Amino acid sequence: MSFQRVFAVTDLKNGRFTSAEVMGVDLCFTIKDGEVVCLENSCSHMGLPIDRAEIKNDGSFECPWHGFAFNIEGGRCKTYPVYSIRTFETKIEDGDVFVRVDEGS
Ligand code: FES
Repeated sequence: MSFQRVFAVTDLKNGRFTSAEVMGVDLCFTIKDGEVVCLENSCSHMGLPIDRAEIKNDGSFECPWHGFAFNIEGGRCKTYPVYSIRTFETKIEDGDVFVRVDEGS
């Protein structure tokens, strides 16, 4: 599947998520050290949205619902590793953010 344009990179904020639906998948994006990170906007614990979470300087955040701790890098769950969140490949081109959502997602 090819990359899809989502929004301008200026729409992203350090320490916060910005959500968008791409090809029917609810996603959330943030930027850290100039890199765009994209996770599924669905906590792998109970499927509730994570986009209200505050992201700490080390890239970790807590799910706003039951407090499971994750890292934006790889969506790894620090509380229970089996609960890691799916991540998606991104790129920045000409000031816009693009994401690749695999078929069948
Ligand atoms: S839904 Fe995220 S910790 Fe429960």
